[in-house]
Amino acid sequence: MSDQSDINAARDRISSARSIAVLTGAGISADSGVPTFRGDGGLWKQFRAEALATPEAFESHPEIVWEWYHWRRKIIAEKRPNPAHDALVVLERSCSDFTLITQNVDGLHLLAGSRKIIELHGSLWRVRCTDCGRTTENRSLDLPPLPACEGCHALLRPDVVWFGEAINPVDLQKSLEACRSAEVFLVVGTSGVVQPAASFASLAKAHGAFTIEINTVDSELVDCDAWLTGRASEMVPQLIGSL
Ligand code: OAD
Repeated sequence: MSDQSDINAARDRISSARSIAVLTGAGISADSGVPTFRGDGGLWKQFRAEALATPEAFESHPEIVWEWYHWRRKIIAEKRPNPAHDALVVLERSCSDFTLITQNVDGLHLLAGSRKIIELHGSLWRVRCTDCGRTTENRSLDLPPLPACEGCHALLRPDVVWFGEAINPVDLQKSLEACRSAEVFLVVGTSGVVQPAASFASLAKAHGAFTIEINTVDSELVDCDAWLTGRASEMVPQLIGSL
């Protein structure tokens, strides 16, 4: 656990900041029971990312890729936001210039009430037509094995960003702007190995932000001004309190 004085120093920075950006990763949802990708029990320890999370995999065996997403949707549908998600809603409401960038596709930030949010890697709860491109919200747990577009009947895909695919340029631009303008940049629960998100803390710091990281272990992020070691569901509420 981190020293209370480190937490207090980071909290002072947050309470005096006029602009705040937050980057979250799978670690923030770990305390809600959502599996992370790396580390003990991580999804990429049990499954091959190339076989399930690339456009090539979907082209060659869409039914296997969809089966994996149907399975994840069922698991995550039962999960609820934890105190870390809730505390970030409090932070959003206390700061007029606020951006939450999440790499998570689980939708738990939205469920908690976050609104100034960029879902950088998409959402499990949206589907996109592989032909007409129409994107729709879809929370059904009863989709057919290969769901089809209601408009043009072509195959639907999860509206997530797979390895080898580009981030939505508008989302990327907004994220970069938030990094450049943030006075405080808070990173919660990411291993910091997937680009472009892995570079956001460095970018924010280069533009003058005070950077804070919360993680249970040392991550690949090297540039943070304050490291708070502990579980997100305990550390984020401690940091944000009742601002
Ligand atoms: P990872 O699974 O790579 O990393 C999760 C991080 O959370 C690790 O650094 C853990 O130490 C930390 N962690 C675990 N439990 C925690 C807790 N209770 N509190 C705080 N931290 C905790 O997940 P991401 O960094 O989010 O991409 O992964 C980035 C991307 O890689 C994902 O968005 C996904 C994946 O492939 C796509 O799906 C495109």
